[in-house]
Amino acid sequence: MYAFETFPRLITRRLILREMRPEDAPALFAILSDPEVTRYLDIPTFTEPAQAETLIARLHASFAAKERWRWGIARASDDTLIGTGGFVRWNQGWRNAEIGYDLARSAWGQGFMPEALSAMLAFGFDQMGLRRVEAEVVPENEASARTLAKLGFRCEGTLRQRGYWKGAYHDLQLHGLLREEFTPAG
Ligand SMILES: CC(C)(COP(=O)(O)OP(=O)(O)OC[C@H]1O[C@@H](n2cnc3c(N)ncnc32)[C@H](O)[C@@H]1OP(=O)(O)O)[C@@H](O)C(=O)NCCC(=O)NCCS
Repeated sequence: MYAFETFPRLITRRLILREMRPEDAPALFAILSDPEVTRYLDIPTFTEPAQAETLIARLHASFAAKERWRWGIARASDDTLIGTGGFVRWNQGWRNAEIGYDLARSAWGQGFMPEALSAMLAFGFDQMGLRRVEAEVVPENEASARTLAKLGFRCEGTLRQRGYWKGAYHDLQLHGLLREEFTPAG
């Protein structure tokens, strides 16, 4: 069972999934200051570069505290950060976890997130002992639902007014993936 000894570095055909470093702050700010990227997310659209620096420092500390981690998704060709993703909740007793992810708008539509999630899910099933992975998606976020479907996720239903952010309640669709349903992409 994965026990937070070293940050798990994952390699795919076009990507490196690695720990984010302070030098990634400008690229992370560029991603999360784009309102199209944060449109369906429960985080504010970043307005100050310092928010990215703080987030990277917070993620570093939470990994050191063995609480959670989030991969930086970088292009293998030049190590530039183009997104982030990881398990936002891990119930070790129940052997399930929830994923979250975001990608720079300039990188959309090229299959990068299915490729990155494939590596994360393989890690989850093989190294974290997961039986099931979940994702909660607002119904309007068709791109996210399509990404999940490519990996074998099924939409299992709508959780009414499940979320509250940016001053409004949000329905969320629950997508679930069982280990044997996983179809890697990329
Ligand atoms: C959801 C997201 C991660 C998908 O990543 P991706 O690497 O572009 O995924 P894919 O290449 O598989 O494309 C998925 C779908 O996005 C849509 N899409 C593709 N290019 C697009 C573009 N330029 N603009 C808008 N949508 C686009 C298509 O519907 C595509 O499905 P298709 O391949 O069946 O045509 C990305 O759109 C994103 O970061 N969105 C903002 C953050 C977010 O919503 N995160 C998920 C929260 S649950």
